[in-house]
Amino acid sequence: MTKFIKLDPKTVYMNPFSVLDDNWMLIMAGSGDQVNTMTASWGGLGVLWNKNVAYIFVRPQRYTRELIDRSDHFSLNILDHERYKKELEYFGRASGRDEDKIAQSQLTLAYSQEVPYFQEADRVLICRKLSKQQITKDSFLEAGLAAKNYPIDDFHYVYVGEIEDFLIREDKI
Ligand SMILES: Cc1cc2nc3c(=O)[nH]c(=O)nc-3n(C[C@H](O)[C@H](O)[C@H](O)COP(=O)(O)O)c2cc1C
Repeated sequence: MTKFIKLDPKTVYMNPFSVLDDNWMLIMAGSGDQVNTMTASWGGLGVLWNKNVAYIFVRPQRYTRELIDRSDHFSLNILDHERYKKELEYFGRASGRDEDKIAQSQLTLAYSQEVPYFQEADRVLICRKLSKQQITKDSFLEAGLAAKNYPIDDFHYVYVGEIEDFLIREDKI
């Protein structure tokens, strides 16, 4: 079984721009036989309310959104993009509402205190939900941004999660 080490997020160098935009991440949530994952590239890491946080943007129609809503936690999984390109694309195309995406993949589900994550990830952020808020049309200050990104008004939910554990695979330290 792959070993993960818990690190203080302050000691980890991770460029959020290249990780999110080029590498992408997998958001995972759920429990029991209802665990699902989806690819995401919008979000960020930072400090808020005196806590280390991650924030993610999830459209209402995502099945993963339902599972995030039903859970106290979610995990963010960062995998080697070249090695797992096929899976990252598949998780970003298919919906867990139609098929068991994790079972269809070759990836291995693991749990950190009941929070699901992938054994194959290089880095895993275990996040506890702190807040959820939906973006509104009238919150945009730049003209055209809402129409361009939300032609069907499916405004993202923004989840802020406290990073409870920042896990790094032993061989990736
Ligand atoms: C590179 C990439 C980035 C994505 N980023 C997001 C994102 O940040 N938020 C989101 O709601 N959907 C995003 N998606 C789309 C979801 O991954 C996709 O709709 C997925 O099929 C949802 O799966 P689900 O219904 O099983 O939750 C992205 C897809 C790709 C390929």
